[in-house]
Amino acid sequence: MSVIIAPSVLSADFGNLQRDCEMINQSDAGWYHVDVMDGVFVPNISFGFPVMNVLKKHATKTLDVHLMIVEPDRYIQRFAEAGAEVLTVHYEACTHLHRSLAEIKKHGMKAGVALNPHTPVSNLNGIIQDCNLVLVMSVNPGFGGQAFIENTHRKVSELKELIEKNNAQTLIEVDGGVSAQNARSLAQAGADVLVAGNAVFATPDPLSTIAALHKTANS
Ligand code: DX5
Ligand code: ZN
Repeated sequence: MSVIIAPSVLSADFGNLQRDCEMINQSDAGWYHVDVMDGVFVPNISFGFPVMNVLKKHATKTLDVHLMIVEPDRYIQRFAEAGAEVLTVHYEACTHLHRSLAEIKKHGMKAGVALNPHTPVSNLNGIIQDCNLVLVMSVNPGFGGQAFIENTHRKVSELKELIEKNNAQTLIEVDGGVSAQNARSLAQAGADVLVAGNAVFATPDPLSTIAALHKTANS
């Protein structure tokens, strides 16, 4: 499988969201990455269902929703209705992670778990087989445009090993500070999905930037 590029909508131009959706639809991106923040789990508030509805209307690719919220179980059904195909909750926000993942799957979505930079991969030892995806945070969640934490490479390799050891089908996603400088090494370490916000939308030609990232990651 080739490495998927998932542009982060958080860095899009909200005044021109339909235009940015059309750009992503035409691009080499495989997924849309959708960051939902509640101002409690993370020190920032992003957007919720009104923006999800715009994405559902215009996006022709998988909506990969990353919930940076407390008590995510309360909203699983709403996100399924809003068009999420992959729904990722934070390890640190779930007291009963197994139940949360089961609920997500029950609603027809792929279930993901996100790990903050300080959360060890080994915390997933007992649950890796139940994760369709693990999102490795390579910045502290809350904001786009932050510097990549280098230790992420080690975490991705360790996670890849855990997945193989358990014969699991789990995808590895890396989120935060991804750019043309680290896309290839992350793919080599085992990443299947690379999220890119600032590296895509802060460039004059996001369409070519996505193409270049896709090419580098798959080279
Ligand atoms: C951070 C979000 C990321 C963010 C990535 O909390 O989860 O998805 O949008 O943005 P960049 O690529 O700019 O670090
Ligand atoms: Zn994210």
